Amino acid sequence: AEPGAAAPMDSKLTEKNINDALKKAYDKYKGLKEGANADYIPALAKVDSNIFGIVLVTVDGKVYSVGDIESEVSIQSISKVFTMAKVTEEKGIDALPKNVGVDATGQVFNSIYAIEQHQGHEMNPLVNAGAITTTSMVAGKSYNEIWNKILGYYSDFAGRELTVLEDIYKSEAATNQRNQAIAHLMYAYGHIEGDPLQATDIYTRQCSVGVNAKDLAMMASTLANAGTNPVTGKDLVKAEDIPEILAVMATAGLYDDAGKWLYKTGLPAKSGVGGGIIAISPGKFGIAAISPPLDAAGNSVRAQKAIADISATLGGNPY
Ligand code: DON
Repeated sequence: AEPGAAAPMDSKLTEKNINDALKKAYDKYKGLKEGANADYIPALAKVDSNIFGIVLVTVDGKVYSVGDIESEVSIQSISKVFTMAKVTEEKGIDALPKNVGVDATGQVFNSIYAIEQHQGHEMNPLVNAGAITTTSMVAGKSYNEIWNKILGYYSDFAGRELTVLEDIYKSEAATNQRNQAIAHLMYAYGHIEGDPLQATDIYTRQCSVGVNAKDLAMMASTLANAGTNPVTGKDLVKAEDIPEILAVMATAGLYDDAGKWLYKTGLPAKSGVGGGIIAISPGKFGIAAISPPLDAAGNSVRAQKAIADISATLGGNPY
């Protein structure tokens, strides 16, 4: 192809196929009443369980949507991907594997046992210990400088200015003693430099950023598009760093069920306890769905089913 020429789009990715696939999945799962909102962060239990929206953004920047694309939920663990991207860009591709590891822990996302097993090594940036450590690695002289950089970076992925859902932040900050303990352990083992409680608080704030299904799909499509936001054209991650970021998502994005998810869909993905999931079909599209009720592993029931169906229909599996 000529340099700069648009990549040929997959023949399955026509406007009609995409709209039909989205609508079919939405209609099929809209009435599904499985799972329950997360409630270990009290404010999450109060979020409307009926919110359900799906958005797909192709790497040429076309946006397709169905259902609720307005309601914001907290981004939660999906944020971990973008802080991982920030630290990778600032510190280089070897910094995170060296400090926190890139392996599945085989334990729950906020496991303390996993930290103890290898003194804080052999984890990954998508479990809490690795994620809080990753947040602690973002360069900056003050809390505000670091925080504004993180929020600005997420906003560039979404293509609009994101803000914190203050009620979620307050609720999680009041109940995050376990994450504070995790941060102290990671400090004790020499992975966190600086104040572990500052890292935990910035992490808690990054998890409380409000996003709708369209924001998440724009963020996902930027990863699908080799690190360039397909609508704004902003370069956010070096193309050469994308495979490693997607590899960590494939390994650990849906926690204990990451293997099952990958087996079924082949898509690097990331879930959050707010009910969002993003998934990436590299070079094709980013997709996101939001629906707060979660299964036992902490992943949105409807979002998983909808994304799996849509990707299967559209040939999203890279394997
Ligand atoms: O640290 C926590 O527990 C939450 N802020 C994020 C956890 C999360 O989203 C796990 N996701 N499945």
